[in-house]
Amino acid sequence: MVDACLEHTRPNAQEITIMSTATAPTNASAQTNSASAHDWKEAGGAWGHAAAEWATLKEHYAMDILLAMFPRLGINEGVELLDIACGAGLGSRLAAAAGAKVSGIDASESLIEIARDRSPQADLRLGSMFELPWADETFDAAMSINGIWGSCEGALVEASRVLRPGAPIGISFWGRSRPLHLRDAFIVFAAHSPAVALEGMVKTNNIARDGVAESMLEAAGFEVVESGARESVIEWPDPETAWRAMRSTGPAVPALRNTDHDTLKAAVLEAIEHCRDDRGIYRFRNDHRFVIARKPA
Ligand SMILES: C[S@@+](CC[C@H](N)C(=O)[O-])C[C@H]1O[C@@H](n2cnc3c(N)ncnc32)[C@H](O)[C@@H]1O
Repeated sequence: MVDACLEHTRPNAQEITIMSTATAPTNASAQTNSASAHDWKEAGGAWGHAAAEWATLKEHYAMDILLAMFPRLGINEGVELLDIACGAGLGSRLAAAAGAKVSGIDASESLIEIARDRSPQADLRLGSMFELPWADETFDAAMSINGIWGSCEGALVEASRVLRPGAPIGISFWGRSRPLHLRDAFIVFAAHSPAVALEGMVKTNNIARDGVAESMLEAAGFEVVESGARESVIEWPDPETAWRAMRSTGPAVPALRNTDHDTLKAAVLEAIEHCRDDRGIYRFRNDHRFVIARKPA
């Protein structure tokens, strides 16, 4: 498998192991994810560009990782949970159903709107994970489902600030092992994106490298408790649905701006054709990783 890493200053599509589904900057001003330079509104705009499709056709990619993380984070009746980069709020909704008192933040107005609609009792805010609008030591637990990626260290420092001493945090991200069907589609997006967008993707994807997530958590003052993996599985009944799901992701945006829509659609569907079974159903399977850590007591 071809590697993607920060050492590449001019990545090309083949260097993308898997493009992150984190912040996919769409212009030069959004290339850096540091708290000062990261353009969270731009990132939110990309992620929310097809909010209904994301929320109904793609977001359930997280089901297996949520099942793994909830008991490890002690998500239960009365637990005050922060969902960082909550998106359309599937994780928030399920945590609320488990009895947690949920707060969340996301950069996308259209996704937060859906999340609020799904969980009216939760405190869900539009904003940046680099500047959390909550007081120190507010939460019993925090999670970020594919929301904190390489170069997002500042978000972990903020998470530590708002967690109570001894509180756990769980983050998830795409791994590098097979099956990794996302890679096939994202390589097409990468090949059709401008170079400046590719550089941002490679940077955020860095978290997939062994030990990077753990090091980021430790640098923010957390103690790593456990690293694990699950297989993420989502299914689509036909090519149109598969395309609408893949098109709804942030990394599709620079490619859609740069390329004719039908050309891109045909290339993506060709790349993921091998995921269909003999009934024609897509089974889209991906290596999904998590790390659980704890703020020192
Ligand atoms: C891959 S999506 C994950 C969303 C959600 N956690 C899920 O699993 O469906 C990444 C999310 O990060 C959000 N995001 C990107 N940059 C952000 C920032 N600086 N602050 C808050 N959210 C951000 C995007 O709007 C998007 O909803």
